[in-house]
Amino acid sequence: MIQTVEIHRVPTVAVSGAALGADIADIDLNEPLSKEQVTAVKGAWARHLVLRFRGQSHLTVEGLAAFSRHFGPLDKRPTASGSMSSAHDKLPPEITVISNVKIDGKPLGALGDGEAVWHTDMTYNERPPKGACLYAMEVPPTGGNTHFSNMYLAYETLPSELRQDIEGLRCVHDASRNSAGELRLGFTDNTDPRKTIGAVHPLVSVHADTGRKCLLLGRRRNSYVVDLSLSESEALLDRLWAHATEPKLTWTQVWKVGDVMMWDNSCTMHRRDSFDPASRRLMYRTQIAAGVAACSELIA
Ligand code: OGA
Ligand code: MN
Repeated sequence: MIQTVEIHRVPTVAVSGAALGADIADIDLNEPLSKEQVTAVKGAWARHLVLRFRGQSHLTVEGLAAFSRHFGPLDKRPTASGSMSSAHDKLPPEITVISNVKIDGKPLGALGDGEAVWHTDMTYNERPPKGACLYAMEVPPTGGNTHFSNMYLAYETLPSELRQDIEGLRCVHDASRNSAGELRLGFTDNTDPRKTIGAVHPLVSVHADTGRKCLLLGRRRNSYVVDLSLSESEALLDRLWAHATEPKLTWTQVWKVGDVMMWDNSCTMHRRDSFDPASRRLMYRTQIAAGVAACSELIA
């Protein structure tokens, strides 16, 4: 008897050679994936923290959501505040737009064209998202690169006394501004880190899946190490931030149309360069929830 077996090639993994990151080839994210393919991607994600899938230009927003769902339930995008273009409403609820493009004077998406400072997404929440996928539809000719930093390595390469000193310390993560520096609705400006409003997390966090320790810094502005004096907290955080963003711990993504980047939000940080406001950058984004899918209040 002849059996027909559906052949799915196992994707190829090419490591970046930097502190994190790998390219995954021989996979079409718009097709249903086999168990073996999903297992291979999950394994590469756990090992390399940030994955890049190039040449996915035919991927639909529904396909992006279906692919992302293999890694956990997805958060829904924030409900339109009125400041965003209503073009969002036509997209599936799990899709957020990251863009500087304006329609009738209103932004089509979040984060504009300025720098997005180093951050881990939404750590001002008690349960920050597990990861995110970002899919490039339009990219500027220069600028707008995204840098990623390996927070396992950041922890492991700290001087051992400093690693001991921070064990058990907790830090408050500012909810008031997004990574583009914009004050969120409902927040007042605060410049005193001791008055920061947001979730409190240990500086040394343990990854829920891998059990490995990593540094959890969130974002620098208004960050405060609970129970230290302001000057002690500032000095400690400056030291940790300088270390965690050293180029040797990072990998840079120079975008091409059709790239999908997928990052582990528990053990990485990212930063985006500014770009020429006269050029267009348009990305679709999904966010993998921490546990039970919740409506994400605010974009990262
Ligand atoms: C994000 C983000 C950076 C970028 O989507 O969370 O920070 O390169 N994006 O657009
Ligand atoms: Mn982000």
